[in-house]
Amino acid sequence: MGKTKKIMILGAGELGKEVAISAKRLGQHVIAIDNYPLAPAMQVADQFEVIDMLDAAALNQVVKKHNPDIILPEVEAIRTEKLVEFEKSGIFVVPTAEATYLTMNREAIRDVAANELKLKTAQFTYAQSFEEFQKACKKIGFPCVIKPLMSSSGKGQSVAYSPEDLQNSWQYAMEGARGDLKKVIVEEFIKFDFEITLLTIKQKKGPTLFVSPIGHRQERGDYQESWLPIPMKEQQLLTAQEMAKKITDRLGGAGLFGVEFFITDDEVYFSELSPRPHDTGMVTLISQDLSEFDLHVRAILGLPIPEIFYYGPSASHVILADSQNSEPPQYNGLENSLIQAGTDIRIFGKPFTRKYRRMGVSLARGINIDDARKKAKKAADSLCVK
Ligand SMILES: Nc1ncnc2c1ncn2[C@@H]1O[C@H](COP(=O)(O)OP(=O)(O)O)[C@@H](O)[C@H]1O
Ligand SMILES: [Mg+2]
Repeated sequence: MGKTKKIMILGAGELGKEVAISAKRLGQHVIAIDNYPLAPAMQVADQFEVIDMLDAAALNQVVKKHNPDIILPEVEAIRTEKLVEFEKSGIFVVPTAEATYLTMNREAIRDVAANELKLKTAQFTYAQSFEEFQKACKKIGFPCVIKPLMSSSGKGQSVAYSPEDLQNSWQYAMEGARGDLKKVIVEEFIKFDFEITLLTIKQKKGPTLFVSPIGHRQERGDYQESWLPIPMKEQQLLTAQEMAKKITDRLGGAGLFGVEFFITDDEVYFSELSPRPHDTGMVTLISQDLSEFDLHVRAILGLPIPEIFYYGPSASHVILADSQNSEPPQYNGLENSLIQAGTDIRIFGKPFTRKYRRMGVSLARGINIDDARKKAKKAADSLCVK
């Protein structure tokens, strides 16, 4: 495949760090970018820069300086208009500049999924003022889910059970919104039996591949634990795969996507997708030979993926900080955490904590999913972040 590629990773958190490691293992040159020094991916990259990624001039400057072959947006908070320009200048923006633009705005991607591609989703509508919001919730019915159009990891997201909740939900959404877009999506609350992430790999050459479906549990709209494989009806898995293929084909380019679905007894609802590795996919660091990060890098470089070999039922559990601390964190209890066979820990190396900030993840394999989840939880609970 020719010469070493210069890969610029925009967003140097835990996902960017694992992508950097996978790329380094294949001999690529990695430049990690984020808005604070010592971010996880910077610790393993060849070079790094600290800039505000919403600042067009700053983005321009680092791209000019490093002249990357590939730009990997690993977070949503990026001045995506710039990505279009970089793409026009011949840089491969992963998976495409348009995909990163569409997926950072819930309205844009919902429009493509529901209106253009006719994928089944929860009922939804939008609101830009409190009055509109009240009408929107009445139309959708209670309970309903409220999300700012631009936000991630559950920020600004809430469930309203009755009209009395609306004032709080609106306020919370306004505070949690990224940027100055004062618009929310109101969604029908789906009482799903379970939800899955279907990691979908779009290759330059070769067929679209799927990782075994990943089950996960969210709290405060943020992932707490994930496991693989989640048992599900064959027909529903095929339906989810078909929907994932449709939307990733529409978005184009190459790379791994995390496609989220809600599953009920008789329905498969498309929810949203990330055009990059997914946090719930961290379980693939222990469940198989090629993790979601390895798969992403191979897909981007156009390298073969002849097989994904699974080691058995596996789980991951997040390790959260319980308070804010500007000192470098200490991790107590590694010896207890690692005592169980088939268990491992990934500490991300973030330089400071915030309450509920994700600082690491535990990984476990078990004789079945229950066993793997218990082991992962025990390993995470044994570790204390101070
Ligand atoms: N319409 C809905 N019905 C039921 N639960 C939902 C709905 N929308 C979101 N959720 C729950 O909230 C979580 C986060 O929502 P999501 O839309 O994925 O936001 P984010 O971009 O922050 O991940 C989902 O994984 C799911 O558990
Ligand atoms: Mg999500």
